[in-house]
Amino acid sequence: AQDGQTPQWRPALHFSPAAHWMNDPNGPFLLDGTYHLFYQYNQAGMVWGHTSWGHATSPDLVHWHEDAIAIPATPNEDIFSGSVIYDRQNRSGLGSASAPPLLAFHTSVFYNNPAHPDGTQAQSLSYSLDRGASWRPYDHNPILTLHPDSRQFRDPSVFWYPDGKCWIMATVVGDAQVVKLYRSTDLLHWSFLSDFQPSGYRKPGMLWEMPVLVSLPLDGNAHDKRWVMIVSVNPWSIAGGSGVQYFVGRFDGVTFTPDSLPPAGSDPAAYDWLDHGADHYATTRFANTGSGAPLLIGWMNNWDYADAVPTAPWRGQMTLPVALALKTVEGRPALVQAPAPSYEDWVRRQGVATYRDRVVGGGQSWRAPVRGDVMDIRLTLRRGAAARAGIVVRQTPDGRTGTVISYDFAKGNLTLDRGHSGNVGFSPKFSLVHIAHLAAPGGVVSLHLVVDRSSVELFANGGVLRMTDLIFPSAGSDRVSLFSDGGSTRFSAIRVATPAR
Ligand code: FRU
Repeated sequence: AQDGQTPQWRPALHFSPAAHWMNDPNGPFLLDGTYHLFYQYNQAGMVWGHTSWGHATSPDLVHWHEDAIAIPATPNEDIFSGSVIYDRQNRSGLGSASAPPLLAFHTSVFYNNPAHPDGTQAQSLSYSLDRGASWRPYDHNPILTLHPDSRQFRDPSVFWYPDGKCWIMATVVGDAQVVKLYRSTDLLHWSFLSDFQPSGYRKPGMLWEMPVLVSLPLDGNAHDKRWVMIVSVNPWSIAGGSGVQYFVGRFDGVTFTPDSLPPAGSDPAAYDWLDHGADHYATTRFANTGSGAPLLIGWMNNWDYADAVPTAPWRGQMTLPVALALKTVEGRPALVQAPAPSYEDWVRRQGVATYRDRVVGGGQSWRAPVRGDVMDIRLTLRRGAAARAGIVVRQTPDGRTGTVISYDFAKGNLTLDRGHSGNVGFSPKFSLVHIAHLAAPGGVVSLHLVVDRSSVELFANGGVLRMTDLIFPSAGSDRVSLFSDGGSTRFSAIRVATPAR
């Protein structure tokens, strides 16, 4: 490796650009069997700035190919986040019946432009007539302006709303902590519908960004469709800094109404969070994926320390894409997330080892006979005499450092502790311990861990709890151990996949 470069932290299962800064995923979609991903990209630096839409493509959501920049920033305009839709019937008229256009809705931030004060934000459109290979700006941008001097109006997220036979756009006014909804039938002209601005969990200086409004059947019942408003909030998320919160409710074509809200002044834990780890932000939805479960992808990072993350020559990586469902959990509708089906197909093609049930005695640990810096691990813990039990991943051979995931049977809490995971000193804001409530029905907890070179993603109890954390382990941190404290614990259904060589 060249001086200062960190190939040991280059993600194997997650997209990261070859070089330079990346933040939010933008406008992911599926077309002709290829997944497209765009992203906030500073092609000239290692910190945020002058963002273009970078572009990558994948056949399977695991292997990515970085393409040329799709929508470049110019000296007069930064290209902020947004979404893409496939205008199959050419309702915009920007393509033709035989070559339907793809439309990218994004925020323009204007500079040195006589028509727009410096730093103001409005929504613009770029389109592709060659199935995503190249993009050109619409002639009459911007297509949606709130006030001529709005500086926080951004992140258009567009989807087809069949009941209203129209397209809906969700945007935010970030510092007002409001989602604004619009509708259109031609994708060029947008009319205002309503604001979503609940009193509730908000703090001075908190930004609301990257809204996603998605409908899901509750418990798979097509007759009980709910709507979920997903909002990225920064700072003051559940794990500190930036994070993703959601509201379950109804949408009548005009207004989104949450089913219930905790009383004003409630603790963040009273609200619903998409992820209880520190490193998941700006989640957005794949377009054009058909009738299956919606797919989401997020930025695996936290604005609290994103510009200090110790990787080089790139900075920024995406989360694993997940499939989304809405299920009743502990008596309430909750988002349930699992790695995307094509990731599971990939896992099945790797070397998968299964282990017999193992009872680990109190104060003891068992080291699994598997090594690697990339692993997919599944297991269940059954409550025995132990107070607490769990697993250490990316552990050094001497057992002194590693990332510890543990369940406290008495408190009903799951903890991810990266305090001894490797390099934790690059930022004082790099939070070390993340804790979330998790019920253990029948005394059993199941864990699914996706371990990569610089991250751990945890899906517990079939995805009712998700925790995503970056880690920066030292070389040789390739061991896995199970442990039990204060009594014994039975571990079962242990399966570990490592990439086939
Ligand atoms: C979220 C965000 C968006 C904005 C983009 C700019 O991380 O702040 O609101 O569009 O990043 O890069």
